[in-house]
Amino acid sequence: MSEASRGNLSGRVAVITGATSGIGREVALGLARQGATTVVVGRGADRASRVAGEIASASGNPRVESLRVDDLARLVETTELATKLLERYPAIHILVNNAGAYFRRREVTPDGVERTFALNVLSPYTLTTLLVPRLTAGAPARVVNVASAAHRGARVDLADLQSSRQFSGFSVYGASKLELMWLTREFARRLNGTGVTVNAVHPGFVRSGFALNNGGGTAVGMRILAGLFGRSVVRGADTPIFVASAPELASVTGGYYADRKALPGSADSRDPVRAKQLFEECARLSGVPLLAA
Ligand SMILES: NC(=O)c1ccc[n+]([C@@H]2O[C@H](COP(=O)([O-])OP(=O)(O)OC[C@H]3O[C@@H](n4cnc5c(N)ncnc54)[C@H](OP(=O)(O)O)[C@@H]3O)[C@@H](O)[C@H]2O)c1
Repeated sequence: MSEASRGNLSGRVAVITGATSGIGREVALGLARQGATTVVVGRGADRASRVAGEIASASGNPRVESLRVDDLARLVETTELATKLLERYPAIHILVNNAGAYFRRREVTPDGVERTFALNVLSPYTLTTLLVPRLTAGAPARVVNVASAAHRGARVDLADLQSSRQFSGFSVYGASKLELMWLTREFARRLNGTGVTVNAVHPGFVRSGFALNNGGGTAVGMRILAGLFGRSVVRGADTPIFVASAPELASVTGGYYADRKALPGSADSRDPVRAKQLFEECARLSGVPLLAA
């Protein structure tokens, strides 16, 4: 019997977005090693299936599957991904909302939504909400949102979620991670009692492909900084894997973890009123109905 088939996640289905590289790929590998039926969600025609094959061989777990999505910043693609997952899996036990990025310049998606907000906030809101029926069917189930310590000190103007008045890439990235912290708490509150837990993690400063999409000086600078101070993707994936699978966290919800430790998050991240307002705004912008409070 392989290590994976004896793992504590055997018989469980784990879906990881942004699983073709960086932290997400290591998270997928870690969950596959524990025996989960692992769904690699990734960009590019053959990439997701190639990476799924690599993870299957590296983990010794043949149940590694793939789903292609080319741009989770587009609502139609997030919705199509949810539809495929709903069709394929009667129950989902782990959802890791990992795909995310930093954009130095302001861009707007074809939906008319600022790209950082669209990818880092609206997509996890939409995917998680649409998958609630499968997560409750799989309960006990866990949602893990890959947030960041960059949420600390971030400011969010709920009247300008599109950052159309003022745009600074790093501030908008930090704001998106504060918003993801709010989504985490609000989902946890709304799903309380269903057996579905929702937690956020900070993976640390990681040597991944992060920010390299911006090219030029940003990519050069990030490579240097990450080379000097960044941790490996294996270490970056450790806390997300821990929060997704550790038996001792089975009933913990609405939390924030870094280096396997529960942290309070910033005072702002614990503001229930703004969390609820953001949630309602995500429902309006995505057109995906609000989960009952
Ligand atoms: N690196 C850090 O220091 C750090 C710190 C705190 C939090 N985080 C967070 O950790 C998460 C993973 O980042 P990472 O460091 O692993 O960076 P990464 O190496 O750039 O990985 C990002 C992943 O997201 C996917 N992705 C990016 N844009 C996408 C889009 N529009 N549609 C679908 N998938 C998309 C990428 O796909 P491809 O494989 O096709 O590129 C990749 O798999 C992000 O949410 C990031 O904000 C990172």
